Amino acid sequence: MTSAGTLEVVPMRRRHLRQVVRIDGQQDGERWSPALFLAELGRGDDTRCYRVARRAGRVVGFAGMLYAGDDGHITTIATDDAHRRTGVATTLLTALVTDARRRQVAALTLEVRASNEAALGLYRQFGFAPAGVRKGYYSDNGEDALVLWAQDVTSDDYGRRLAALGVTAEVEATGSAS
Ligand SMILES: CC(C)(COP(=O)(O)OP(=O)(O)OC[C@H]1O[C@@H](n2cnc3c(N)ncnc32)[C@H](O)[C@@H]1OP(=O)(O)O)[C@@H](O)C(=O)NCCC(=O)NCCS
Repeated sequence: MTSAGTLEVVPMRRRHLRQVVRIDGQQDGERWSPALFLAELGRGDDTRCYRVARRAGRVVGFAGMLYAGDDGHITTIATDDAHRRTGVATTLLTALVTDARRRQVAALTLEVRASNEAALGLYRQFGFAPAGVRKGYYSDNGEDALVLWAQDVTSDDYGRRLAALGVTAEVEATGSAS
């Protein structure tokens, strides 16, 4: 666990992808190809928000959101093994939720493996609650996905919840696409 050094959050760029793919490869199960990350970054329609967290100039985590209709869908989030449990994902999720609030998108959703205690703990802190199960959703091991939603993230109450998380990293507030 490496917690030394200030975290900063910046838009994900092509130049970050080598490190992003390396971190993505540390987790179990399905990974994203570089081509998929590139396709997400290459969209010119302002429906995506991808961010990386850096510590001492090095990418230590990443996260992404896509906007569809009135909702935001968190598509991916991961922290480098060596930097886990040091607030990286909390900082990244704060950046995504801040982007959603800026866009006046009030409902956020995601899928998570039913056994992923770390992610479930993270999402709980952001007010995500289970709303359904997709049976056998993950093709690598047939595991169920829990569908989580966080509602009213644009509210003042939710703003207080975010503030209570105490993220002090520099989170870039503008430049929502890629
Ligand atoms: C899930 C993941 C992104 C969390 O990243 P992280 O940077 O370590 O998370 P944070 O340090 O911000 O932790 C925030 C909270 O999440 C929960 N959490 C994180 N890791 C945990 C663990 N190993 N066990 C239990 N809870 C955990 C805790 O509630 C934690 O708060 P606390 O440290 O104050 O108790 C990381 O474990 C990871 O990259 N996992 C592999 C990829 C993945 O599963 N992504 C989610 C896909 S839906």
